[in-house]
Amino acid sequence: MAFKVTPYEVSGNVDYQKLIKEFGLKPLDSKTIEKLTKFTKETHFMLRRKIFIAHRDFNWILEEYKKGNKFFLYTGRGPSGNTHLGHLLPWIFTKWLYDKFKVDFWFQITDDEKFLFNPKLSLEDTNHFAHENALDIIALGFKPDRTKIVIDTECADIMYPLAIQVAKKVTFSVVKSVFGLQNDSNIGSIFYTSMQAVPAFMPSVLKGKVMPCLIPHGIDQDPHFRVTRDILPKLGYPKPASIQNVFFPSLTKSNKMSASMPETAVFTTDDPKTVKKKIGSALTGGRETLAEQKEKGGQPDICSVFKYYFFLFEMDDKKLEEQRQLCKKGKLMCGDCKAELINRINTFLESHQKKREEARKVLDEYLFKR
Ligand code: TYM
Repeated sequence: MAFKVTPYEVSGNVDYQKLIKEFGLKPLDSKTIEKLTKFTKETHFMLRRKIFIAHRDFNWILEEYKKGNKFFLYTGRGPSGNTHLGHLLPWIFTKWLYDKFKVDFWFQITDDEKFLFNPKLSLEDTNHFAHENALDIIALGFKPDRTKIVIDTECADIMYPLAIQVAKKVTFSVVKSVFGLQNDSNIGSIFYTSMQAVPAFMPSVLKGKVMPCLIPHGIDQDPHFRVTRDILPKLGYPKPASIQNVFFPSLTKSNKMSASMPETAVFTTDDPKTVKKKIGSALTGGRETLAEQKEKGGQPDICSVFKYYFFLFEMDDKKLEEQRQLCKKGKLMCGDCKAELINRINTFLESHQKKREEARKVLDEYLFKR
């Protein structure tokens, strides 16, 4: 079946192996994971479960680190609305790398991008969400001494001179073919990818020292970094390395969680009642009746509720497998599985929301200013 993945559109049933080939990524193999584990001493569940599946030059990052050449981490968010649990995947993994390698972290919030690409959003809207989304990244535990949050419209004085160096080397025809933009696309959207390239070399510029950059991100963002990797060597900086995660699926039939379709995802700002309602009406792999479920068993592999356990809410591999088997044998009913998940999500959100509110008081310490 046909599928499409760009930073601006994800549709169809994504065949990740095909996509990896199409994008020219390297599959994340056990050899690379073993190399990483030499440094981290444990394997993150997102690596064990192949939630992170591909990379570019990840081995190079490890080799440089071994030589004493520390990398910095860079990832980001396009503030089109509140943060959903899918956005947290690359950030939670980034936090793990941040703790294990004790490196600096740069987080870009692209209020310009979401303003330019979304006809319904004003700059006030996207700037408002930029500050809201920043609370989520702080709530994950990043520390102010090693973390800088860059909001594009607020850091334009520093970013613009760097962005135009990138822009001068990117043609309109490249942008058309990579992002699917057209002659009638607004000229801000055509320029935008140069802004997303900036944090991949801005820390080197500011430090006056060329440093390797590692970008963990969802696979949809790779087209931006393909362009970035083409240009940075021409400006005297190394190609940024990257590591890609698959999509946390939607609660409904559509493919990927979407911030513009609230019923498809749980948001970090949802209250317990909303979570109960969303999970209660989620698409499952259950049968029509309880009797049929007991007889034939459920289908965890097509169940969005099971996927929630897989992606975030059951980190113990053994317990997850037991749950899969119980479901398949008809010994676990959807109602019980949903009730437990609602509990776990609400417990997580209660703590996350407390930390988000605490983060409001310290946000200023994280925001990058010259
Ligand atoms: P945005 O806001 O669309 O997404 C933020 C990050 O979350 C990933 N993501 C997902 N991962 C798993 N499952 C999902 N359902 C899901 N939906 C989104 C995205 O791939 C991304 O990593 N242009 C960017 C903002 C940005 C950025 C960056 C992202 C600026 N610089 C550097 C990554 C790295 C954007 O709109 O992301």
